Amino acid sequence: MATSLCYAKPLKPFSLRLPQTQNPQIPTQTTQIREAETLTITGPTQLSGHVPISGSKNSSLCLLAATLLCSNSCLLHNVPTGLSDTKAMLSILRSLGAKIEFNERNKEILVNTDGVGRVEPCLEEMRKIRGGFFVIGPLLARFGEAVVGLPGGCDIGERPVDLYVRGLRALGAAVEITFKIFPWQFLICGNRLCKPTISHSNTEKMAGIANFCIITSDDTGLQRDGRVLAHSANGKGLVGGSFHLDFPSVGATETLMMAASMADGVTVLSNVAKEPEVIDLARFLNDSGACVYGAGSDKLLIKGKCQLRGCECYVPPDRIEAGTFMLAAAITRSLISISPVTPSHLSCLIDKLKIAGCKITRCNNDTLEVSAIPENVCENLRGFNVRTSPFPGFPTDLQPPTMALLTTCSGSSIVEESVFDRRLGHVRELQKLGAKIQVCGSTALVFGRETRSALHGSQLRAADLRGGVALVLAGLVAEGTTQISGIGHIGRGYENLDTKLQFLGADIKRSIAMASQL
Ligand code: EPU
Repeated sequence: MATSLCYAKPLKPFSLRLPQTQNPQIPTQTTQIREAETLTITGPTQLSGHVPISGSKNSSLCLLAATLLCSNSCLLHNVPTGLSDTKAMLSILRSLGAKIEFNERNKEILVNTDGVGRVEPCLEEMRKIRGGFFVIGPLLARFGEAVVGLPGGCDIGERPVDLYVRGLRALGAAVEITFKIFPWQFLICGNRLCKPTISHSNTEKMAGIANFCIITSDDTGLQRDGRVLAHSANGKGLVGGSFHLDFPSVGATETLMMAASMADGVTVLSNVAKEPEVIDLARFLNDSGACVYGAGSDKLLIKGKCQLRGCECYVPPDRIEAGTFMLAAAITRSLISISPVTPSHLSCLIDKLKIAGCKITRCNNDTLEVSAIPENVCENLRGFNVRTSPFPGFPTDLQPPTMALLTTCSGSSIVEESVFDRRLGHVRELQKLGAKIQVCGSTALVFGRETRSALHGSQLRAADLRGGVALVLAGLVAEGTTQISGIGHIGRGYENLDTKLQFLGADIKRSIAMASQL
């Protein structure tokens, strides 16, 4: 059981002996198999029992990147090692020369970055996840140079990297973005198709665009091919500076915090993200010897240190996984408990679920019980409105599964996505189950159905992580069989989702689909 949450303390070097290193890199073959896997759910289901919540994906990705700042070893406990995003991040660190030992059973990872001899991580792995881009901050700070591929991650919006680039420049880095483009290729920037002859030396303009790709005219399919080249402009290292973020981007805040921790002098970052993951990172950095003040507020003051040392830390529970299971209890009108969880990180969702009519009980410090069973909920759950916004607002990552719940609540609900510009892809799939939803721009109007069995099973495709889990939740209450393909997306952020749901009583099976089913 988790005793306290994020809780870094200095690591006594070699204090723990871990089993021999296993290679955490997923072979391409496996990725292809995952793409071909499907989940088959037979509903409607009622759930009961207890679910253990894994360590936070987004904290782990960031803390793993931060190990690049530290001499000696860092020991991370409670890492969600089963996630494909975690595996991609470990491959990125390995590709730089980091030594990684991990104990899958205990969810512990020991990282030693003293042998890092490269500043260009594996491009292939970088393209898989957004979090890989975070390494640009620590690489620049500790080694004075970084050559980093533009990030991948879920296709939920433009997701540019301009704030990272401008912030690093404010800390004395020279940063440019380059593209390799050949005459037989076409470049797509956002929704524009550029002429193959276009000059892409205008890197300033391109810095604002992350979701671009190059289409080759042969059969190799889509590729991203852009690199960010960064080095300290003075040839020595980064220097403290001031930077105001136009939007409180989580990743840009974290990346700049890491960079500033080893910059010469004081850095002030304003309008920063206040997410719990930022506080986790600040704790880790401070326990490594850095001086980061103000985490959790909208302003950070960071006094740079010339060296940071490894430390030991516990990755806090994943608040999005916890929220997803709370929504699973609500949509199935069930009673389940979850732990470990930090209730204050989920207060927005808790408020909304209470408005809907759910009963939420705090059993002890880190356990919540969620009940939507008819004995506790007199009438059908009621719909509510949601507008996503940065923490402490309603988390964008919980918007898709929340929408799934709202399709089964009475009345109409308005769901407004304000963080990402293309995060309503799940709507079309929910409609296939019979959900009544109308979309206008980034807003969806959900017409709730009076009975939970109003949804019926269908063949669906998950196109992104949180959208994919929304389909699983809806499948739990849809009458009949729901088959979901594209579940590799779900494995990026939910450890053993199907097994955890089976333990709660769901009829959910994983299988390899025939090509015609995909
Ligand atoms: N943005 C910019 N410029 C930038 C950076 C961000 O305009 O340089 C914009 C984005 O386009 C977006 C908004 O800022 O519209 C918010 O993006 P943010 O940078 O905060 O998100 P992120 O760091 O890319 C992290 C999580 C996401 C989570 C968001 C918001 C990781 C690895 N990812 O992404 O997690 O949704 O914060 O909380 O930490 C997920 O887990 O499914 C997921 C997408």
